[in-house]
Amino acid sequence: MIIICGECKAKLQLDDHLIAKPLLKVRCSKCKHIFSIDLSPKEDVVELKQSFEKPKKVIAICNQKGGVAKTSTCLNLGVSLSLLGKRVLLIDFDGQANLSLLLGKKNEPSFYEIAEKQITISKAIKSIYPNLWLLPANSRITLLARQALQQPKEFGFFLRENLEPIKEHFDFILIDTPPSVKFFTPHALMAADFVIIPTQCEFLSMNGVMQMDSVIRTFASTHPLDYRILVTLYDERNTASKVIYAKLKQKYPEKVFDTVINLDYKMQESQIINEPLVHYDQNSKAAIQYGQLAKQIDIILR
Ligand SMILES: Nc1ncnc2c1ncn2[C@@H]1O[C@H](COP(=O)(O)OP(=O)(O)OP(=O)(O)O)[C@@H](O)[C@H]1O
Ligand SMILES: [Mg+2]
Repeated sequence: MIIICGECKAKLQLDDHLIAKPLLKVRCSKCKHIFSIDLSPKEDVVELKQSFEKPKKVIAICNQKGGVAKTSTCLNLGVSLSLLGKRVLLIDFDGQANLSLLLGKKNEPSFYEIAEKQITISKAIKSIYPNLWLLPANSRITLLARQALQQPKEFGFFLRENLEPIKEHFDFILIDTPPSVKFFTPHALMAADFVIIPTQCEFLSMNGVMQMDSVIRTFASTHPLDYRILVTLYDERNTASKVIYAKLKQKYPEKVFDTVINLDYKMQESQIINEPLVHYDQNSKAAIQYGQLAKQIDIILR
């Protein structure tokens, strides 16, 4: 529940468990003004947290480096969250449309048709499995980037504004982005509450993470974003992988997930038959790791 401080007008979040209590006085965390919001005679004074208004649930999966398992992570993390009982929307925001292809959806309406007003966003969303929906992509969405160059004002907060009316229907929205920092990735970042940067443990991959870190920092003044680095395609037999993993942890303390996703050939097998790994072989190493990651995400973003 959101309430407004009578003194400084700050919007404040009142935790749901407090609403059930007979609450008399609250203290604004911003200006420390104490005021009543209930007729109950109880004398509790409760410190309220500054409201972020939007629950943190839109996750952009980004790295301008190609082939680091962004799409595989979007799919398998999304399915793992849905298996935890969360309502999950996957957004394919990449003209390669790999996420849509992996789910057997080819050439379906995408954000291009939504921008062209040929279809509403809720009509474009496809139900895939229980608790899992997809907003597909097709190659036409790459035209959006070109249009945005010609009419930058019209595309200001394109994705964020389009997601606003449907957000309340989902616990998590995961956005898959292309290997580029042009148009699609910045729009995904502007719509996101949190970012996952998948990366391989290779020397050149460190560079990709550094670039993503600096892109996220350029948004910091208007749209501060928390992120975590997810090590993917991890080969524990490879010494270089272990060394790079340790370096990543040293350079970005607190920002690297403890869960890594192992190199697992079951992933490629699952993709051949258009099934998420988590469904194809739930006991495979990477499927178990995506399940662990889903639990961590659920805790971090609660
Ligand atoms: N854990 C894994 N084990 C083995 N192979 C994997 C794993 N995760 C992903 N792959 C394979 O790695 C390749 C790249 O994966 P994916 O398409 O998810 O990367 P991407 O970052 O989305 O690529 P792009 O930048 O082109 O969008 C695919 O062939 C996929 O099957
Ligand atoms: Mg991809």
